[in-house]
Amino acid sequence: MNTLWHGRFEAAPSDELLAFTVSLPFDRRLASDDIAGSRAHVSGLVRAHILTPHEADAIGTALDQIEDELQAATFSFLASDEDIHTAIERRTTELAGPAGAKLHTGRSRNDQVATDLRLYTRRSLTSVALRLHELRGALAELATDAGDAYLPGYTHLQQAQPVLLAHHLLAHGWALGRDVDRLLATRQRADVCPLGAGALAGSSLPLDPEFTAEVLGFDAAFENSLDAVSDRDFVAESLFDLALVGVHLSRIGEEVVLWSTEEFGFLHLHDAYSTGSSMLPQKKNPDIAELARGKTGRLIGNLTGLLVTLKGLPLAYNRDLQEDKEPLFDSVDQVLLAIAALRGLLTSSDFDLQRMQRAADVPHGAATDLAEHLVSGGMPFRDAHVVVGGLVRDAIERRVPLADLVQAHPDLGEDAAALLEPGVTVTRRTTRGGAGPDAVAAQLARYKEDLVKDQQRI
Ligand code: ARG
Repeated sequence: MNTLWHGRFEAAPSDELLAFTVSLPFDRRLASDDIAGSRAHVSGLVRAHILTPHEADAIGTALDQIEDELQAATFSFLASDEDIHTAIERRTTELAGPAGAKLHTGRSRNDQVATDLRLYTRRSLTSVALRLHELRGALAELATDAGDAYLPGYTHLQQAQPVLLAHHLLAHGWALGRDVDRLLATRQRADVCPLGAGALAGSSLPLDPEFTAEVLGFDAAFENSLDAVSDRDFVAESLFDLALVGVHLSRIGEEVVLWSTEEFGFLHLHDAYSTGSSMLPQKKNPDIAELARGKTGRLIGNLTGLLVTLKGLPLAYNRDLQEDKEPLFDSVDQVLLAIAALRGLLTSSDFDLQRMQRAADVPHGAATDLAEHLVSGGMPFRDAHVVVGGLVRDAIERRVPLADLVQAHPDLGEDAAALLEPGVTVTRRTTRGGAGPDAVAAQLARYKEDLVKDQQRI
């Protein structure tokens, strides 16, 4: 078996070494990035007069064929192919002969793998940002459809003040907007090309990292070869961004779980986006929402795992860095699946607006409005708080309608009692960013402007 280093070694690698160190099973997904990186490197070698155009053509044709073979799944991997880079270089040499053997000139797998992974990251962050952007659009549509419907707003999961359903939906939408922003910022920092850093120190050959960076469409070339091959900040940042997306999806999931219970009944799941029970015939379960919540543990684990891998590493490349790929691939895959499933769940769900409004139409929900009514008559807020708190306690203890007590109170009366009518208090949340119809309409307009801006940025 010929390894990439067989010149220096007498013995072939042991089976145990191969079994433990192989990365091909997971880094195969970098194949197209690896080929793109090799094509750029070949252009750089031609420019440096290390390869003739004829040799470059032979390599290019070999890479075309390798692409086809991988596509058609006819590429035969060998036991000695420890990673995708080895496999592609080996096959290039088989196909292109002596020209193929020149492909790796001035290049190390260290700068190669870092380049491949940055290409993958750039592309994947774009897809996640795009899918999140679409989910944000779906939330805007749901908010529009919800009109002026309202539901109880909660603090401590205790009913607090009514809010428009649109307001609640957009609250999640803004959080996802910050995620889009973060993903794009991370993509920007990932957009630096390590190719040309070599194993760690650059090259004696007249290679131009800025040229290959440009060929690959990177924003910039590396500044420091040691940093270029050691830096996995872009992976850690991506994992953080994806974990936080997960946290946001998890919080939506938790609310779907609550809202779809018999007790809340705010939302009825579509059959296609819920599951049944193998034993209990009556059940309809919110598994998507639960897994949006559950898988977030794993996303956080992926981030934590990578940070621990990185923390003790000396410069420059260490094989530990091979552990960067599986968590990244996994987090990207899981987040994309979760976004798609949750989007389907939300857009197909039936929001029970009447049930929400009935739940919100409890007189105690107007307590703050009553206190503010007293404040507008000149009473200090702290005193008003005590007065209204006393009325609420009275109403509960004596089992009399709060409205009657309000009506009879010398500082409150008819106007104040009118605040307790269903649907009134929510219309009074008029301040910017507030939960009432006018404020939410203005918010929705700004949210849609934000979507237009993001569309261009992604
Ligand atoms: N499979 C390796 C990785 O993913 C490629 C780089 C190997 N470099 C080396 N010096 N052994 O990190």
